[in-house]
Amino acid sequence: MSRTDLPQWKTLKSHHEAMKGVRISDFFTGERERYDTFHAQHEGMILDFSKQRASEETISLLMDLARGCDLEAERERMFSGEIMNVTEGRAVLHTALRNEGAEEILVEGENIIPQIKDAFAQMKAYTDRVRAEKRFTHIVNIGIGGSDLGPYMVSEALKPFSDRNMHLYYVSNVDSSHLAEVLRVVEPKKTLFIITSKTFTTQETMCNARSARRWLRERLGKDDVSAHFVAATQNVDEAVKFGIEDGAIFPIWDWVGGRYSLWSAIGLSFCFGIGFDHFEKMLAGAYAMDTHFREAPLEKNMPVLLGMLGVWHRNFENFESVGIMPYDQYLHALPAYMQQLDMESNGKSVTRSGARIADYQTGPIIMGQTGTNGQHAFFQLVHQGTSIIPSDFIFTLKTQNPMGTHHKKLCANAIAQTKALMDGKSNKNPHKVFSGNRPSNTIVLPELDPYYLGMLLALYEHKVFVQGIIWDINSFDQCGVELGKVLAKQILTEFGEDDGSADDDDRAHLDSSTLSLIEMVTRGN
Ligand code: F6P
Repeated sequence: MSRTDLPQWKTLKSHHEAMKGVRISDFFTGERERYDTFHAQHEGMILDFSKQRASEETISLLMDLARGCDLEAERERMFSGEIMNVTEGRAVLHTALRNEGAEEILVEGENIIPQIKDAFAQMKAYTDRVRAEKRFTHIVNIGIGGSDLGPYMVSEALKPFSDRNMHLYYVSNVDSSHLAEVLRVVEPKKTLFIITSKTFTTQETMCNARSARRWLRERLGKDDVSAHFVAATQNVDEAVKFGIEDGAIFPIWDWVGGRYSLWSAIGLSFCFGIGFDHFEKMLAGAYAMDTHFREAPLEKNMPVLLGMLGVWHRNFENFESVGIMPYDQYLHALPAYMQQLDMESNGKSVTRSGARIADYQTGPIIMGQTGTNGQHAFFQLVHQGTSIIPSDFIFTLKTQNPMGTHHKKLCANAIAQTKALMDGKSNKNPHKVFSGNRPSNTIVLPELDPYYLGMLLALYEHKVFVQGIIWDINSFDQCGVELGKVLAKQILTEFGEDDGSADDDDRAHLDSSTLSLIEMVTRGN
């Protein structure tokens, strides 16, 4: 049975029809207390969803749909370690990493809590020691995807909490320019490379890791540079083969997905910057959001509201994209991180049982940029384009850098955007008409500290989970990235750079465009 056959889905369809012509701004005229009803909060973090084209009935029908899809039971299945990632046969337990008080969470009969405690103790001891000794002050994280985007985003977001004498660098792209620019500025003796790769086989990461090792050998004039390398990986054998000492390998487990891995040793890099105690505060913030997600009634549950409003946009309003607009410079890497979190999770077109999804949409396109920069770039389209991009505006009440009127101006801009999008503006000149009626959420954090960053990230992780359940997809695999990887390996063999991993290099499979491009690269002109 398709999700669209559910009576709750059908009721929402008719409700959407009945809502035709309703403007968001009308709700505010009709309902004086609209904000009171249409916001949720937890521990000072606020989600204002009053500027949505949604009535109390809309919210209530969306929650009926959530219940009709067994969201509450599915949520418990995730938290208790059941196999949610059905294609890979894995539990999904990044939440266990934040559950400090838990004594037992079982994965296939084994209690994972002791492993987590040991891993965190190892991370704490190591990062505390390096930070105290200052033997390494240049930390280079080599990883890609979830092994890069999350850690980099956190390192940027929490800069005010970091030791400015610890210099963090992130290298992800297989483009040698990425590594070269970092190697230009780091000091070999003082440099520690962290190879973050769950699999320790990712082409880009291994290529960068080998080049970094070669560079260090040349600079230090010795073959054994193992003291300068640590790894966060599940593939201990490969890390040892690479030359990393056993004690310098930090674990990650198959029940932590790549894009959910910043809570594990994959986050080692930023711990050198902010210190393990701040990392613990981040975990505590995420745990507070986990608890809220698990316990708050659906109608007041921030991840559920965010997720279900996204379903309203995607499946009933037919909007294709979502904007993530953080009005905080420290969150400049958040939109890119959110792209992986959301699009790698919910960019799927088969159900959990493998049926093709024919009659409803799944994950939206995620885009965004910090405010106010985005305003001077693509907000033209957000206000007047033919596409409607429902957006989340995120700002803090307290700045980390008080300076004159900057922060008030920043907040004024964020609030003004949400109002302009909602109200629009009429004008005799058609070029100056703003149609308005464009929905947004506003998320307000007391400040951007480790605790609230943890809450914010967990909020979005659970939003993605909620939507995956409604769309009946597996949010935890990423089969869609495989084909390109396999073909890249085949094409590499065409360049005579066979690394032995390509299965089939039959040129007959290559079309004339692909062949011409290959020949161009081979010729080099
Ligand atoms: O490209 C897909 C992906 O598997 C991501 O899901 C993951 O975050 C990234 O590659 C890196 O993988 P690894 O940590 O194994 O190097």
